[in-house]
Amino acid sequence: MAEKELPDSQIERVNWVIRAPTNEELQRRYNMWAEQYDGDVGSIDDYIAPSKLVEVAAEHLDPASHVIDAGAGTGLVGEALTAKGFTHLTALDFSAGMLEIARSKGIYHNLHECDLSKETALPENSGDALVTCGTTTQVPSTSLREYARLVRSGGKIVFAVVTGTWEEFGYAAIQEELEVAGRLRVSHKGERFQMMPTTEPQFICEIWVMDVL
Ligand SMILES: C[S@@+](CC[C@H](N)C(=O)[O-])C[C@H]1O[C@@H](n2cnc3c(N)ncnc32)[C@H](O)[C@@H]1O
Repeated sequence: MAEKELPDSQIERVNWVIRAPTNEELQRRYNMWAEQYDGDVGSIDDYIAPSKLVEVAAEHLDPASHVIDAGAGTGLVGEALTAKGFTHLTALDFSAGMLEIARSKGIYHNLHECDLSKETALPENSGDALVTCGTTTQVPSTSLREYARLVRSGGKIVFAVVTGTWEEFGYAAIQEELEVAGRLRVSHKGERFQMMPTTEPQFICEIWVMDVL
């Protein structure tokens, strides 16, 4: 069966991408969507999660720290971090198309194309902090182990958590595993808000800060 191509309308594109049936198809759809992503998620002032996440990150992280942006996409989080004075940013994503847009913005020191469900080629303790936004329902939960490996002890993970899917997608179990192992502790849970009030009102989000121990 021929694979469907990029839909014509903004709402259809958002739904088509986020409902990709496999990881490979998700990657392919993001590559196709990359050039229209910022316009689609920003044009209706709907996707407020990056700015909410960065507000919390700015309260909990030193702007001089090396921050890894996991599932960085086109760099919306990186742009908001840069506006808050953060200068040392690394982008990780498995979509070359999305990373290409992020690269063109000139805000990331390094950009790596990698699948976050597996151990990446980056050494452990690579960053002082890691931020991730718009990823809970897409990046497999095994990524949380990789995040804890990438951040140095004493560092922090700032995570835009879609609360209703945290357990269903396996994140809660891996969080517990890391907590029991003495690797991670949730130190802050922010206010609840709708991640995309217009297009996906059912996604309720909280910004969590996790201390890497
Ligand atoms: C909704 S976008 C969020 C992008 C950006 N953080 C933002 O808030 O605009 C999700 C991103 O996760 C990436 N992604 C999804 N699954 C992934 C995986 N297994 N490994 C790496 N990146 C992945 C996609 O390519 C996409 O860029």
